[in-house]
Amino acid sequence: MPDKEFIAVSLKNAIESGSVCWEAPSNIALVKYWGKKENQIPANPSLSFTLKNCKTTTTLNYVKVSENATLSEEIEFDVIFEGVKKESFKPKIATFFKRILPFCSYLKAFRFEVVSENSFPHSSGIASSASGMSALALCVMSLEKSLFPKIEDDFFYKKASFLARLGSGSACRSIKGDLVVWGEHKEIPLSSDAYGIQYPFKIADVFKDFQDTILLVDKGKKQVSSTVGHNLMHGHPFAAARFQQAHDHLSALIPIFKNGDLAAFIKIVEREALTLHAMMMSSDPYFLLVKPNTLAIIHKIWEKREESNIPVCFTLDAGANVHMLYPSKNKEEILEFVKNELVVYCENGHYICDEIGEGSKKL
Ligand code: DP6
Repeated sequence: MPDKEFIAVSLKNAIESGSVCWEAPSNIALVKYWGKKENQIPANPSLSFTLKNCKTTTTLNYVKVSENATLSEEIEFDVIFEGVKKESFKPKIATFFKRILPFCSYLKAFRFEVVSENSFPHSSGIASSASGMSALALCVMSLEKSLFPKIEDDFFYKKASFLARLGSGSACRSIKGDLVVWGEHKEIPLSSDAYGIQYPFKIADVFKDFQDTILLVDKGKKQVSSTVGHNLMHGHPFAAARFQQAHDHLSALIPIFKNGDLAAFIKIVEREALTLHAMMMSSDPYFLLVKPNTLAIIHKIWEKREESNIPVCFTLDAGANVHMLYPSKNKEEILEFVKNELVVYCENGHYICDEIGEGSKKL
């Protein structure tokens, strides 16, 4: 079992208490993860831009409760989110701890307090599970590092991504920047279903400071969670073709990233976004996360591209918000376009300016 390398040997630990803090960004998938097997194994490889401004900062406070790590099978913890104790966040974190326990049995010796905040409003429709789970996984790894000081950086980040994946699949792509691949792909050496790796090939300069302006169409809670959506890919009539398409899109992107072919890039990225939503619309039961304003924005982006020749395009995650992607040299004109023509479609006129980032940071 390849997961074996991540099992920490149990030890009598000398640490009484401590605190670690990490900040981790969100990411936006260009090739989408949609569909998974048991144990958070993706049905197809995915690839994402790591973001810079949308991030979660998490402090993990820990106190030893037992001398050796054998007493409890359940981790005891509290969650404080943006200054308030949050019972409603506990089940997801409890699931995370349960899933990582076989790989981090030392956790049983401690009681935790998870103190977290987002740089973006919680009710923005932006999923915080990627940034939140990766920040928490990194905190766990810092604790592991103080127990096992010999851990090297390479293993530290690989296991952080592995643990983050067990919390939320896309979170494993939020540890590092700027372009991350998760899932085995025959043309990408060392790619793995178990964790994300930095995209290993050449990336043309135009992609290195790409912008992502997130147009907040609907800030409400999603009616269908990603986890439910992933599960609806089991038995989906188009699943096999979709998974193959993701492999093909990744192959096609390799020369595109190298040569900076923006027209070809746009075709793949928009097709990925629309295919993701087409899968939702053709699931059983079917569901629809895009809203009329999502479509209005897409049409506006197409018009803008046609008339200005600016290589601006869109992608979507599992919601109604639109991520508008474009090179930094077009920033001024695109932000004018947002103010003049797109804010009317955003809830309360809200949007977030983000760009490609370098990944997580220890604070
Ligand atoms: C549409 O990572 O949120 O954003 O593993 O169940 O937590 P879980 O799902 P999640 O799914 C993300 C789906 C997506 C596409 C993507 O980010 O690749």
